[in-house]
Amino acid sequence: MYGGMRGIKGLICETSVLDPDEGIRFRGLSIPECQKLLPKADGGNEPLPEGLFWLLVTGDVPTDAQVKAISKEWAERAELPPHVVSLLNNIPNTVHPMSQFAAAVTVLNSDSKFVKAYSSGVHKTKYWEYAYEDSMDLIAKLPVIAATIYRNTYKDGSGIGAIDTSKDWSHNFTTMLGYDNADFIELMRLYLTIHSDHEGGNVSAHTTHLVGSALSDPYLSFAAGMNGLAGPLHGLANQEVLVWLEKLRASVGDKYTEQQLKDFIWKTLKSGQVVPGYGHAVLRKTDPRYTCQREFALKHLPNDPLFKYYGLKESNYYTVLFGVSRALGVLSSLIWDRALGLPIERPKSLSTDGLMKSLKAT
Ligand code: MLT
Repeated sequence: MYGGMRGIKGLICETSVLDPDEGIRFRGLSIPECQKLLPKADGGNEPLPEGLFWLLVTGDVPTDAQVKAISKEWAERAELPPHVVSLLNNIPNTVHPMSQFAAAVTVLNSDSKFVKAYSSGVHKTKYWEYAYEDSMDLIAKLPVIAATIYRNTYKDGSGIGAIDTSKDWSHNFTTMLGYDNADFIELMRLYLTIHSDHEGGNVSAHTTHLVGSALSDPYLSFAAGMNGLAGPLHGLANQEVLVWLEKLRASVGDKYTEQQLKDFIWKTLKSGQVVPGYGHAVLRKTDPRYTCQREFALKHLPNDPLFKYYGLKESNYYTVLFGVSRALGVLSSLIWDRALGLPIERPKSLSTDGLMKSLKAT
């Protein structure tokens, strides 16, 4: 109760399970198994996130044709309503990309099919169908939102171009970001697949589930999850890690001794800060998400000391990439929450006084 509820089992999550030693399994499949079994783009080697979404929602590995149908459907649903474009184009580029992301997703709820159905009195056994429709619309639009944020914040604001219904979700995303290197497109397919879900207790998944339990629509629920992902102990850690490593390099250079590394780590800890990215609430062994990205980097970027993303070096944008991926997992779970008719989540709390009294009584 005072320790972040570490290890307390209190949630159901059907889409994935996290093993402390082995890492994540999506519907029973490990990351290497997903890399092997999920459909790939023509000529590609990495799984398509569309296939992972199908797996998370249905529990089955999709066929190539099923994945192609999702790519097409997401491309067809991708257009943003004008008020969201106008919001994004008017937010100052000094606002953190994650705040822009959550704000755009929040106002997208004007188009929520769940809200319309709920207010017209739909039967509760049908809620999941509208949660599904909103999730499909939202996932389809996320790359457009994210790319608009990128181009407005770091480039001249132009150039995201039109969605191509013959391209997959990740390929359209990289094109809109302004990167058309074939290896980068493959990296994004892999990245967007493996960061989608990390069972139910992490902050973004738990928040999306909690807010959704109040029957807030999928846009509001996911935006809430993204505000959690924006915290430095959760998703923002991938920005913070790079910032810390840059500081380390500036301090010790590229030819450092073990002692210099130890001193720098101690300096961080003794000044009351955390070393970002070290220490996971559940994992006790190397994260398989790291292992497969490291293998990718060793193959495609062997000489880069920090494995930079093909020129996408704006580290305070990285959590937005994480957020686009995380949508696949948390929205799959949200569809199931509504299908299972899960109630509003309302655990009981105690004051310290009440806790002490109940302990004395036992
Ligand atoms: C995640 O992917 O959500 C992070 O590893 C954090 C977590 O699992 O608690």
